[in-house]
Amino acid sequence: MRRAIYPGSFDPVTNGHLDIIQRGCKLFDEIIIAVLVNPDKTPFFSVEERCEILREVVNEIERGDCHLTVESFEGLLVQYAADRQANAIVRGIRAISDYEYELQMALMNRRLQPRLETVFMMPAEAYSYVSSRLVKEVFQLGATIEGLVPPLVEERMRLKK
Ligand code: PNS
Repeated sequence: MRRAIYPGSFDPVTNGHLDIIQRGCKLFDEIIIAVLVNPDKTPFFSVEERCEILREVVNEIERGDCHLTVESFEGLLVQYAADRQANAIVRGIRAISDYEYELQMALMNRRLQPRLETVFMMPAEAYSYVSSRLVKEVFQLGATIEGLVPPLVEERMRLKK
């Protein structure tokens, strides 16, 4: 049983995240999409809203035989991964600029939990510039985010406006 954790803020989930989940489904039997509870940040969507949105949108994607679940987590990622008996952490890398931070996290996580592997995956080029932060910024400034996020996310963002 190959079980991976795909952790993140997912505020909001983008089509880039969904692309990574679909690719991960080819490698793992189960992926737990884990939404970080971060009291330091003021999010656009609450953790509960993000989990609810994720659950709906991952239902629509091509997942093969991979079992997908969505949960929130607090504290150290490696501890959460151990509690869930996961073998790997999945992270998406869009560009070299992501790599430095991701490498630091991967190596720190390896130091803390040597048996847990980090797997970096590349999304489709079409999503190489898509981030939750920019999606929120352009949306709040009135631009369209069609094609960057699932339609449900855009709908839910409009309701918040
Ligand atoms: O989507 P993000 O915000 O880039 O995800 C970052 C995340 C959730 C992967 C990272 O902040 C994390 O793992 N936080 C949990 C706390 C932890 O384990 N910190 C040490 C990381 S080396």
